[in-house]
Amino acid sequence: MRYRAPRGTTDILPEEQVYWRYVQECASSLAETFGYGRIDTPIFEDTGLFVRTVGEATDIVDKEMYTFEDRGSDQVTLRPEGTAPVCRAYLEHGMHNLPQPVRLYYQISLFRYDRPQAGRYRQFHQFGVEAIGDSDPAVDAEVIELAWRFYERLGLQGLTLALNSIGDKTCRPLYLERLVEYYTPHVEHLCQDCQARIHRNPLRLLDCKQLSCQPYIAEAPVSTESLCDDCREHWGRLTTHLGDLGIAYSVDHRLVRGLDYYSRTVFEILPPEEGSQSTLCGGGRYDGLMEQLGGKPTPGIGFALGIERTILNLKRQGVTVPDQSTTAVAIAHMGEAGGREAVKLAAQLRSAKTSTILLPGQKSLKGQMRHAGSLGARYVVIIGDKEAANGVATVRDLAAAEQREVPLGEVIAAVSQDHSHD
Ligand code: HAM
Repeated sequence: MRYRAPRGTTDILPEEQVYWRYVQECASSLAETFGYGRIDTPIFEDTGLFVRTVGEATDIVDKEMYTFEDRGSDQVTLRPEGTAPVCRAYLEHGMHNLPQPVRLYYQISLFRYDRPQAGRYRQFHQFGVEAIGDSDPAVDAEVIELAWRFYERLGLQGLTLALNSIGDKTCRPLYLERLVEYYTPHVEHLCQDCQARIHRNPLRLLDCKQLSCQPYIAEAPVSTESLCDDCREHWGRLTTHLGDLGIAYSVDHRLVRGLDYYSRTVFEILPPEEGSQSTLCGGGRYDGLMEQLGGKPTPGIGFALGIERTILNLKRQGVTVPDQSTTAVAIAHMGEAGGREAVKLAAQLRSAKTSTILLPGQKSLKGQMRHAGSLGARYVVIIGDKEAANGVATVRDLAAAEQREVPLGEVIAAVSQDHSHD
């Protein structure tokens, strides 16, 4: 029997890592520019943390969690999302005592038992941020700006920012009543999921992808027309800030998000190519979440974006990413004495922080040179028994197509020249 990576998971091979490094370094440096500090939470948590916050009638909790009983009979779940764990950590570590908002970011792997396809996996990765403890719409604008600037920096083009407000605990109940009232006469024409959700989670009806439900969605009452005064003011100030920042958005009345903890602002960033699995980034405000976790009322807002989907789009758009992984020096060697000097020289080069590979000495010089070429090495250092006896090595500069013999003690200097003029 041959094992394969479990369905919906992937191995990230060395040649893929250039994309990962590029995206992850861009994410951390941008988050830190905005004053966010990194947080890492455990890969698994008590199941209840997600059931309470993400919500019982959501796809994540209903169908997608990796939940199991551990050997101590505790119910645990591999994290399907990052917001609830960060809020748990905020409460656990008394972060309400810090100046607010507390700005946190994460780069984590997540687990959802979903039907795998391009851009949708069972283990995937997110870059996310959470700003906790401040209800000012300027913080909403900051979080949205951070996500937007991230894609700008990466060089992705043609993205759209979709924005909506789904109200708060004052105005949302009334809106939900209007929604149920509107849908009730049409109930037998709705898909099975919608029929099941109409009373459990009516907001999600607006998010249905079934063709037969689309005409009803198009005519449904919109949440921004049911906002209370506070929510309307928040919405107005947020959109003004986005205008001042020069960030274009389109209001999407159907945007409700797939998790239950949101209030007021919700947003998504979409790539130019359509598709239900294409959303790059999703986020919003979650002013009631801390109370669900037993904390004092504490506002919060954040987003998370999929790293795999980001990389998929970088490739689709042909964005070139800097390759910092090239080998600087490859050492070709022949004979026993040559081999011994080569091993010592490789150690010296690496302690001088020069990336160095020892070529397979059992091959011919020609074979070793070909190997060096496939590694993209800048220099090949050649040491045979004769060179070893004379205490020298041949240093070949592949880029300049030159070679010279130098004493072994000068190899490091010879391969450390400044190439900035190249
Ligand atoms: P989410 O919309 O569930 O939100 O996920 C955010 C992003 O993660 C998606 O837009 C997508 O790029 C990526 N993603 C989700 N599921 C998969 C999957 N199965 N395979 C690959 N990528 C996926 C959240 O997780 C919220 N915690 C976001 C948030 C943070 N809201 C406030 N703060």
